Amino acid sequence: MSKNFYITTPIYYPSAKPHMGHAYSSIVADFFARIKRIQGYNVFFLTGTDEHGQKIQRAAEKANKDPLKFCDEISKTFKDLSSILNLSNDDFIRTTEKRHFISVENLWNILEKKGEIYLSKYAGWYSVSDEAFYNDDEIDTVNGKKICKSSGSPVEWVEEESFFFKLSKWQDKLLKFYSENPKFILPETRKNEVISFVKSGLKDLSISRKSFSWGIKVPSNKDHVIYVWLDALTNYLSALNYPDEKNNLFKNFWPANIHLIGKDILRFHAVYWPAFLLAAGIKPPLRVYGHGWILSGEEKMSKSKGNILDPIEIIKVYGLDALRYYLLKEVSFGNDGSISKEKLENCINSDLANNYGNLCQRVIAFCEKNIGLEIPSTDKFNNDDLNILNNFSSNIDNIIDKIDNQNINYYIDFVVGQLFNANKYFNDQAPWTKKSDTKRLNTIVYVSLELIRKISILLYPVMPQTTLKVLSIFSINEKQINFSSITDNKFLKEKMKISKLDILFKKINKND
Ligand code: MSP
Repeated sequence: MSKNFYITTPIYYPSAKPHMGHAYSSIVADFFARIKRIQGYNVFFLTGTDEHGQKIQRAAEKANKDPLKFCDEISKTFKDLSSILNLSNDDFIRTTEKRHFISVENLWNILEKKGEIYLSKYAGWYSVSDEAFYNDDEIDTVNGKKICKSSGSPVEWVEEESFFFKLSKWQDKLLKFYSENPKFILPETRKNEVISFVKSGLKDLSISRKSFSWGIKVPSNKDHVIYVWLDALTNYLSALNYPDEKNNLFKNFWPANIHLIGKDILRFHAVYWPAFLLAAGIKPPLRVYGHGWILSGEEKMSKSKGNILDPIEIIKVYGLDALRYYLLKEVSFGNDGSISKEKLENCINSDLANNYGNLCQRVIAFCEKNIGLEIPSTDKFNNDDLNILNNFSSNIDNIIDKIDNQNINYYIDFVVGQLFNANKYFNDQAPWTKKSDTKRLNTIVYVSLELIRKISILLYPVMPQTTLKVLSIFSINEKQINFSSITDNKFLKEKMKISKLDILFKKINKND
């Protein structure tokens, strides 16, 4: 089995500064990148910005800026957000980079050479905000204005000479591809939407525009710029130094294991992208996962609705790991979810301060007071000890399988369950009542410290900063974290010094 793992986020439009929805996609991708790394995979995690097309050109014009300068500024805010979110991305690609031009031009040339592209005229609807062409049946009229039914974005009528990709020819091949690769699109409900869209009939796709200039020129006809989605999707190859298919990055990481995206851009990733790739003779990615939206109140966040939640503001008040934990645990992955200060505060109090924070704090404080700051020596484990410790080894294959199917909620629920059990174990065993039986007292503390270690490893992909703080008391650093060590019940070495632990999460007093 290959031990390489390539995961991508969508590349974001730098038309306005990032919001919570963008942060969500990135945090989820980071969770998977980190979990795969601690499982021993060689991971490549890519994010970046999608900088061409009419949407960006218009935003730059509105700001009275040269488009590249405009993109430089806003792309930087996305790059900065990556560090603020503590993303472990290996690369940050911008579609205005030379390496990307080379890759897109090459893909275009191959498609042209293979006879997959022809010149004709486009007459139809276009949404600049979605950068998408729509059929008549996808359009509605609201207050005299034409909009796209599914996204609600305004559309305009476009008539211009355009190059077309022979998408219609790929309809049956795509359907065959989906049925041969039943987990190519997840979750299942989204897969069904895509299949019915493809079955309803694919028309050839316009893949160039002539009425503006901000983009990559068609190599054989400089009057046209390449359609921004063909340009953008190719970023996943550019970052691997495509077209050099012999270089190690490409050899190790293509096809991508998972393109993580929002459900709004499924059609581009699950229909157009595999069609382009199949037509060019390149393997399609292994999976496209379309997650739900983070709603502000009951609505999708958008600049026009003025309901944007700024992740940086939330992080300033509540801390990064609390936000990461909330988004990964409280949103049912694949479905829409919402965030509010109240829900976040409840989650911090009940799960982080009372559960994880409390377990770490009280066990270590007890250890310090009664044993000293070192790992105690153990007696033989009794059944209570073994039952709780062995929960990890008996569930490891199951949780890995759930993660490989992107079942984040199952994973976190498992960890929260173990946290609850660990607190209960410490309470029930009541080591403070065992002061006359040092061996038993020591063993209970040892088991509790092992549970803290195991749980912290499982929580590391969710809350890297906090768990690293906890693991550092056992002198375990990030490079030493090994997922399979959760099956080891005697990892901690007796007599090894441990250090003190500061408060991890402060309880939020709602009356403040
Ligand atoms: N540039 C394209 C993607 C090209 S990928 C080759 C694009 N950019 S975007 O800036 O609009 O960001 C889209 C992605 O951001 C969504 O697919 C989703 O992953 C994330 N989100 C944006 N708003 C969101 C929410 N309100 N909730 C969750 N994620 C959302 O489309």
